[in-house]
Amino acid sequence: MGDKITDNITYIGVDETDIEVFENQYPLPHGVSYNSYVIIDEKIAVTDTVDTQCTDRWLALLDHALKGRKPDYLIVHHMEPDHSANIERAMSLFKDMKLVASAKAISMLSQFFEKLDFADRCIAVKDGDTLSLGQRTLTFMTAPMIHWPEVMMTYVDVDRLLFSADAFGKFGALSYDDKWDNEARRYYTNIVGKYGPQVQAALKKVAKLDVDIIAPLHGPVLTSNLDHYIGLYDKWSTYTPEEDGTLVAYASIYGGTEAAALQLADALRERGDNVVTFDLCRQDMSEAVAQSFRLSRLAVAAPTYDAGLFPAMHDFLYHLRIKGLKNRKAGIIENGSWAPMSGKIMREMLETLPSMEVVEPMVTIKSRMHSSDVASIDALADSLLS
Ligand code: FEO
Repeated sequence: MGDKITDNITYIGVDETDIEVFENQYPLPHGVSYNSYVIIDEKIAVTDTVDTQCTDRWLALLDHALKGRKPDYLIVHHMEPDHSANIERAMSLFKDMKLVASAKAISMLSQFFEKLDFADRCIAVKDGDTLSLGQRTLTFMTAPMIHWPEVMMTYVDVDRLLFSADAFGKFGALSYDDKWDNEARRYYTNIVGKYGPQVQAALKKVAKLDVDIIAPLHGPVLTSNLDHYIGLYDKWSTYTPEEDGTLVAYASIYGGTEAAALQLADALRERGDNVVTFDLCRQDMSEAVAQSFRLSRLAVAAPTYDAGLFPAMHDFLYHLRIKGLKNRKAGIIENGSWAPMSGKIMREMLETLPSMEVVEPMVTIKSRMHSSDVASIDALADSLLS
């Protein structure tokens, strides 16, 4: 029970595999893990807790890791309920345990735990503050907006280990073995995507440390190839594409718009492009957001609906705005059977994103794509790739 991360640090996190959505919005086909750890030294520290559905399994793992001792500290890196839900339970079980967190986190406690009968056992720490456990010294680093304002990370000197909070986390239970990049990208872009500058600030702090192990709040503990993971975080947080290529995202009512979008995808592929097509009415929106961060270009195709933009595309472009996508080249295909409006709205929404270059021509089809539309779709492909 409880995997050893190092001789003195044990994983006591829990997989939740029957959960359908994270934050009640992001699909979790392979569950998620809530990570918690125990550091055994002259003093004992527990880092974070788990969500309510996993309480009993977490407490059993904690009990086993403690081997009859009592924890001295509960280090709280993040107050979102997937990690904080069992704070009150833990503080009531261990009456001498102190809670260590940022002042902002401590100020949030009463929002989640109205009674807050452990207020006198809370220790607020600032950026750079340290706490000795005996052999080990913990150094706390604030990491605001990754992904809430109260977040902090902790560096453990002896183990050269960074507790990174939500950073470097991913969707997927630990029992599901997949490639880190894909579900970490979907997690990052949707959960933290808006806060690239804050991630850059945190990466600069991390760069000053000797880190051998990254222990996040979700997903696997990272023990090798750290440059790869940090490199991806650097790209995502600077809105730099991972690959040259085009995401063709479309929403279609009766298939006419889809045919035009797929015609554009074919035209791009004929020109040697790396293309991903995405049906916004059928596929997961959070993956569409992730792909928009991954690739360097974006083409959108949608019909006019109620004299406006078809809702699935409106939702996608709204997501791109709130997740902060920028620095992409974009093309537009609109459909309108009698009074096309969707292209104008898509252009306006794209142009609210910083450093987006919307290329010409905007293609207009009426109801269905016709052979006469192929030339303008080819011209849009040429512009996207120029
Ligand atoms: Fe995993 Fe922002 O909580």
